[in-house]
Amino acid sequence: MEDPRGDQQPQLPGPSLWPVGFAVGIVCLLVGLVVSWVAAAVGAAIAIVFGFLWARDVVSGRAAARAPSEEAAAPTDGGEAGAEEPERFPRNKFLEGATLGLGAVIGGIVTLPVLGFAVLPGFTKQKASEIDLGPIENFKEGQYVVSTFVSEKEQGDISRRTAFIRNNGFLKNKPSFTCISNRCVHLGCPVQAGGPVFDDQTKNERVAGGEVELTPALPAAGFICPCHGGAYDQEGNRTAGPPVRALNRYEFAIRNGRLILLDLYSVAYVKGSGADAKIKRYELAGPGQHVDGPEAWLYPIQAPH
Ligand code: FES
Repeated sequence: MEDPRGDQQPQLPGPSLWPVGFAVGIVCLLVGLVVSWVAAAVGAAIAIVFGFLWARDVVSGRAAARAPSEEAAAPTDGGEAGAEEPERFPRNKFLEGATLGLGAVIGGIVTLPVLGFAVLPGFTKQKASEIDLGPIENFKEGQYVVSTFVSEKEQGDISRRTAFIRNNGFLKNKPSFTCISNRCVHLGCPVQAGGPVFDDQTKNERVAGGEVELTPALPAAGFICPCHGGAYDQEGNRTAGPPVRALNRYEFAIRNGRLILLDLYSVAYVKGSGADAKIKRYELAGPGQHVDGPEAWLYPIQAPH
């Protein structure tokens, strides 16, 4: 038997790939928020383009479906208008929308604070503590001093870190220091001085945050990582093994004649040495992460610090 509604069946839009593209864009955007702003921007662009195409299809499909039913409802020549004015805002649609809207609001209220507390700290730059290493007279010019200190007072000894500090004399009437972190940039093992360390000359200096241990060293062979054979020269440049860049460095300041370590930063390569060294500063990167060249874009992508 023939369908009495015949051609008046609404013409729904055929299946399309736009929702799939939109979903891929949203996934890219979410992953990008964790790993890279570039990926997040690409994901957002994909989601916007496919979302627009999807919405356009839905709107044009609805318009096409509405047209025949409006024609049917229109009065025919000499006839009367449709028996009943169609309900413009059907109750079931209102209830459907209200239920979905309420669900979305409740979902948002429950989810957003959790997401905020879980994800936002990764995107906020946490200011490093300032580390007082004591009077600059503790650092003899031209000699490295292995300096061990508590980096976060609240965390105590668990936050003990080590830096190799060398007094380079003066540069344009300002004191110059080389302040190298001992954390290997391959996988983060503690790097050691490649030469004698004079433990019998260790000095413990009382500072505001506790005590700093200062031990003179002569790293004639640079710095060596015992974990996988990584090696660095005296400026912290990688010379052998799996590390992909030079050792991280600390910014420093001299206040009231005391040496203060500030933020850590990353370095690809140091040109020159001592006070004359030319260093390009990069934002602090994780172990194994390139900071320059094409590899910085391609491998490996890491979460922001
Ligand atoms: S952690 Fe230093 S070489 Fe692997």
